[in-house]
Amino acid sequence: MSTPTEADVRSALSKVADPEIGKPITDLGMVKSVAIADDGAVDVGIFLTISSCPMQTEISQRVSTAVSDVPGVGAVRVELDVMDDEQRTELRKKLRGDRAEPEIPFAKPGNMTRVYAIASGKGGVGKSSVTVNIATALAERGLSVGVLDADIYGHSVPRMLGSDAKPTQVESMIMPPQNHGVRFISIGQFTDGNTPVTWRGPMLHRALQQFLADVYWGDLDVLLLDLPPGTGDVAISIAQLIPGAEILVVTTPQQAAAEVAERAGAIALQTRQKILGVVENMSWMELPDGSRMEPFGSGGGQLVAERLTKAVGAPVELLGQVPLEQELREGGDAGTPVVLSRPDSASGSALRAIADKLAVRRRGLAGMSLGIDTTRHD
Ligand SMILES: Nc1ncnc2c1ncn2[C@@H]1O[C@H](COP(=O)(O)OP(=O)(O)O)[C@@H](O)[C@H]1O
Ligand SMILES: [Mg+2]
Repeated sequence: MSTPTEADVRSALSKVADPEIGKPITDLGMVKSVAIADDGAVDVGIFLTISSCPMQTEISQRVSTAVSDVPGVGAVRVELDVMDDEQRTELRKKLRGDRAEPEIPFAKPGNMTRVYAIASGKGGVGKSSVTVNIATALAERGLSVGVLDADIYGHSVPRMLGSDAKPTQVESMIMPPQNHGVRFISIGQFTDGNTPVTWRGPMLHRALQQFLADVYWGDLDVLLLDLPPGTGDVAISIAQLIPGAEILVVTTPQQAAAEVAERAGAIALQTRQKILGVVENMSWMELPDGSRMEPFGSGGGQLVAERLTKAVGAPVELLGQVPLEQELREGGDAGTPVVLSRPDSASGSALRAIADKLAVRRRGLAGMSLGIDTTRHD
């Protein structure tokens, strides 16, 4: 067999995506050198974005596998180096243009990412569970999905997504970790252990702004925001920062819970945000004999949907009812959302059906000026 050419090897490398940025390493200036010996042995030099890159093993493996697959290639050696400041600046410019000030991509005209803010009147109704399950279900369908844990005080997204990875920083960009195909950022990634966060309104607003502008989200199809419970500062900040965000209201079937959920939804009226729909959680429990028990009563979701329909003067749909089920709680605790761990369970299928309704067509590249391809998900 003939010795492979450098072009063969580079073409194989163009199919290797950086795990954090999600774009080909050849487009990111990460390929330092390619050397091919007469016996087909290949040495590849790779620039990491930062020296402590948590993804270095993953990158080496991806490079090694891709190059080994080229016909005629013998032993593959990957040597890692680190970008210098100038190279990092180039990378930053490539990813987000030459702007001095970071801006929120989701607020720009023509942006294709759908932003869904998950809201509830009170805590403990399953807002975060609904968020991570919809996120992973959408990612499984091939959409590019991000989750911003905006519940600064009650952050639980990293645990539910099963990753305590920390974001890495490349110049002024924060690279979000990814698990189950979902990129996510949470204040929990920036605090020590379980230290409580005691921020006030203006600091919260700045933190959200940073999470939206400084985090390199890539070309998302959907960004889900797990809001703190209630109708507070964060909801208003989001309305200011991303006016196009749509609100998804989560409630339990209880009348009292429905009333507070309705208030959370009504804030959207004041901020002129669109209401995407209502999810009722903990709707019933299936008993061994097949009958249903309703520990939290019934009708809350429908009630909220009807009242919000009246309030906004446009139909607000009850998108689904999720039963109370041990599998869902276990999935959250174990870090594998029930839509993945038990997709056919009652709660898993209910959540997948809701995600199906929210699945949108993948964003096009119209208006994008990155000059590089987005990663393929399919
Ligand atoms: N349908 C359900 N069945 C069983 N447990 C649930 C269900 N929904 C939520 N839980 C559990 O209830 C707790 C609170 O849910 P969570 O999603 O954290 O609520 P919130 O974000 O609204 O505070 C979690 O332990 C979660 O696993
Ligand atoms: Mg929560």
